[in-house]
Amino acid sequence: MSKFNINLHEAIFSLSDALDLVGVTHIHHGKRVAYMAAECGKHLGWSHQQIDNLFQAAILHDCGVSKTSVHKRLAQFAWENENEHCLLGSELLITCPLMAQLAPIVLYHHTHWSNLQNMDLPQEIKLNANCIYLVDRVDVLCLEFLVDQSNLLLGRESIRKKIMDKRGDWFCAELVDAFIDLSKSEAFWLSLENEHVNGYVSTWLAETKTMEMDFQDLRSIVRIFSYIVDAKSTFTKSHSDGVAQLARFIGSLFELSEESCEMLELAGLLHDIGKLRQPDELLDKPSKLSPEEYTHIQRHSFDTYSILKNIHGLEKISTWASQHHERVDGSGYPYHLEGGGISLEARIIAVADVFQALAQKRPYRDSMTVEEIMEILNEMVDAGKLDRKVVLCVDAHVEECFKESFVK
Ligand SMILES: [Fe+2]
Ligand SMILES: [Fe+2]
Ligand SMILES: [Fe+2]
Repeated sequence: MSKFNINLHEAIFSLSDALDLVGVTHIHHGKRVAYMAAECGKHLGWSHQQIDNLFQAAILHDCGVSKTSVHKRLAQFAWENENEHCLLGSELLITCPLMAQLAPIVLYHHTHWSNLQNMDLPQEIKLNANCIYLVDRVDVLCLEFLVDQSNLLLGRESIRKKIMDKRGDWFCAELVDAFIDLSKSEAFWLSLENEHVNGYVSTWLAETKTMEMDFQDLRSIVRIFSYIVDAKSTFTKSHSDGVAQLARFIGSLFELSEESCEMLELAGLLHDIGKLRQPDELLDKPSKLSPEEYTHIQRHSFDTYSILKNIHGLEKISTWASQHHERVDGSGYPYHLEGGGISLEARIIAVADVFQALAQKRPYRDSMTVEEIMEILNEMVDAGKLDRKVVLCVDAHVEECFKESFVK
């Protein structure tokens, strides 16, 4: 099994950047919540370790939300079933050994202190979860002032009052007091502006290090990204898993090294991560897309690149993933690469992507049979779109490829 040198914090940061895209307009929510939470923790003299955990959980706290329609609800002060996204997020984080310690914090980030304080949990978890709850609500209250481009400083007193009203009930008194103290200053509020909050996160990142992780650990992190994107639409459920499995299988047919095959699997999991930016309506549209909608969809492979580019150690994976819509004749996007400019691995992912999508039911058509899939793939080869060698290889093992394109 190969070893990868990855900075976990960079991966978490990129994941939060990806989640940010779901907001479409309400961006940097996770980062602002992380900034405010960390400042509260510092004010209360919490340990570096506790604040680091708090920061990681805060930046990812809404990872249970991948649909733009659900994201809109987050902007309300309270709503029915608000715990659903907490449960989903924590279930996701627990699958990843390196992030599992964040799961309980995310699980309780909408639980009133009056209930949470009596639960049988370590105090640190309760405080971290409630701290996120508090500043998360602050950010939601800020929204009306940010959306109207009016001065947030004018709104701060009403926000402070609303938080104060829930002291001891929704929020732990000690946390409310820390927040009230901190938020007296103009600097606290002005630091919520994009450039400051980005700077704050960069400083946090600068203090972190890379670590050696094996394929399974890295895969479990990557799997969180892919799960979130696949959960956006019922039609694309497990699409990334299928593409990953199939790409790895085709790689093995080409006798690529074990490391390349593992990287192909990761690139397959990540290839559509840029789709997080797409509104649900476009991905679920039952009819043909208009030219304008198609242009919007087309940006997703470049968005995949922009999300992954910040994770050192994933450069090749990010290149292969972002080239999955490049076509051999240069008609693909977003780079219009031609023939030799597209690596074998990117061509494999391109074929696996088309194959899996055809094998799966879509809002506008039924799933296809092996014969129908091969007919389309061969037409695409003849038209100069897909790599002939890769498609020939798939043709020779088509039944196995069909099986591989669905999660076992
Ligand atoms: Fe939130
Ligand atoms: Fe795609
Ligand atoms: Fe895809």
